[in-house]
Amino acid sequence: MSIKIVSTSPYDDQKMGTAGLRKKSKVVMQPNYVENFVQSIFNTIGDARGKVYVLGGDGRFYNDIAIQKIIKIAAANGVAKLIIGRNGFVSTPAASHIILMNKLDGGFVLSASHNPGGIDGDFGIKYANQSGGQAPSQVSDKIYQNSKTIREYKIFDSEDIDLSGLGTQKLGDMIIEIIDPVKDYAAMMEQIFDFDALRKLFAGGFTMKFDAMNAVTGPYAVKIFEEMLGAAPGSVINATPLPDFGGLHPDPNLVHAKELISILYGENAPDFGAANDGDGDRNMILGRKFFVSPSDSLAIITDNYALIPAYKDGIYGVARSAATSTAVCRVAQARDLPCYEVPTGWKYFVNLMDSNRITFCGEESFGTGSSHIREKDGIWAVLFWLSIIAATGKSVEEITVEHWRKYGRTYYIRNDYEGVPTDIADKLMADLEAKLPSLVGQSFGEYTVTAAAPFVYNDPVDHSSTANGLIIKFANEARIIYRLSGTGSSGATIRVYNEQYSKDNISGDSLEVLKKLSALAADIAEISLRTGKTQADVTT
Ligand code: G1P
Ligand code: ZN
Repeated sequence: MSIKIVSTSPYDDQKMGTAGLRKKSKVVMQPNYVENFVQSIFNTIGDARGKVYVLGGDGRFYNDIAIQKIIKIAAANGVAKLIIGRNGFVSTPAASHIILMNKLDGGFVLSASHNPGGIDGDFGIKYANQSGGQAPSQVSDKIYQNSKTIREYKIFDSEDIDLSGLGTQKLGDMIIEIIDPVKDYAAMMEQIFDFDALRKLFAGGFTMKFDAMNAVTGPYAVKIFEEMLGAAPGSVINATPLPDFGGLHPDPNLVHAKELISILYGENAPDFGAANDGDGDRNMILGRKFFVSPSDSLAIITDNYALIPAYKDGIYGVARSAATSTAVCRVAQARDLPCYEVPTGWKYFVNLMDSNRITFCGEESFGTGSSHIREKDGIWAVLFWLSIIAATGKSVEEITVEHWRKYGRTYYIRNDYEGVPTDIADKLMADLEAKLPSLVGQSFGEYTVTAAAPFVYNDPVDHSSTANGLIIKFANEARIIYRLSGTGSSGATIRVYNEQYSKDNISGDSLEVLKKLSALAADIAEISLRTGKTQADVTT
């Protein structure tokens, strides 16, 4: 066994997006692609000697191959120790927890999150630093620069490492510790929530279905909901992680979690439904024939913090991405808590959590979490909802409707226009940005524009400035936000977020209420003219 120095040629597309490097599997399978990227990380962060990282992934196609490459590159670069989830599995929230609990230097999660897997699907690598969150843009930009000029990488020349048994082994001087990826995470959840109260809930006959979508959260959910809390066996469906997610698109929303939706909207539906995404950081919450929008979920969680042991003494504040509805800020205002608005991407919450400015945060894209870790956390959100139900004795629908009665309702939908040629999407955004100033003061039927500008975030901690998306605000408390996706693996996706607040009309249908605003949003940006699309590809 020895360290080999291998010559390589750079790739020019290893720029991390909203959440790490995300590409088509076939792109990542190109010779030296993973090697270049990982070596660029080590080149950028400096001396790896003495450093300890967590490593694992959501089990998707190529997880097993990429992980072996990373192990060998880490050993060759002098990493002291890798903590690896058994069989190469670890969820994104569990990885963040492992980093924080063990005070590690960071970690690598192999996942393209909610994107489909398989040879024709997507693969990804997320790189976290010692904060437990994904490296900030300043760091990922440097890694990208390095990847464009890389000429060689270091790799340990050895057999593949067996990741199937718990315990410690060595590769050269590097220690490899294989851990049960579920155990510490489950213990943390038990510290945050009142598991006795949840056990009583299930003992009383409460029923749920959790859809793990054949992805990484299956083992976490079976352990926590069925084994620790006593939910009936079979409460977790699609519980075995599969390399292609069994053909599912592991995105927990009304479009992709079809099986769960048919159960919750069918005859004899359980009391509660939830789904997580590929790597376990996203969640969807359902009641019987009832869907909770992620923006509302964040607001309801915030309003109920006092019910949870870990938060009952108070929370610092809350934050949402600019594209997320303003519902949580209404709760914050009523409770005299600060409410921050950040760009899209969980990494922008990290400084706010580290500086004790916020405790809860969330995104409209089915992401909710708290400062217990530095990633969003799907199972945490589910346990939070179960805890509200256990404490109040109310159904998901009753909890949500009561919330609307108290605060009003923020109707919200997102329209995605997918597969748009990049040049057309870029031009659409640039032209729209240029015409924003001229929109202010104009009226479109009941919608009068009061503000129209790019969203720019000035981080109060590191003072970096980030522009992300364009926002139009109207006099009647409606908003439209436009941005381009930063997680796609080909072409561009234009996201258009539509929001309309109503204090009194709380029983409408979101699509109906937002029909005019959605049409206006498409018109203002000339979406059909420029893309040929007369309707969105996906509405969530
Ligand atoms: C999407 C979501 C964003 C989320 C990210 C990673 O990014 O919109 O909220 O943080 O996935 O899960 P986008 O494709 O919009 O850049
Ligand atoms: Zn994810």
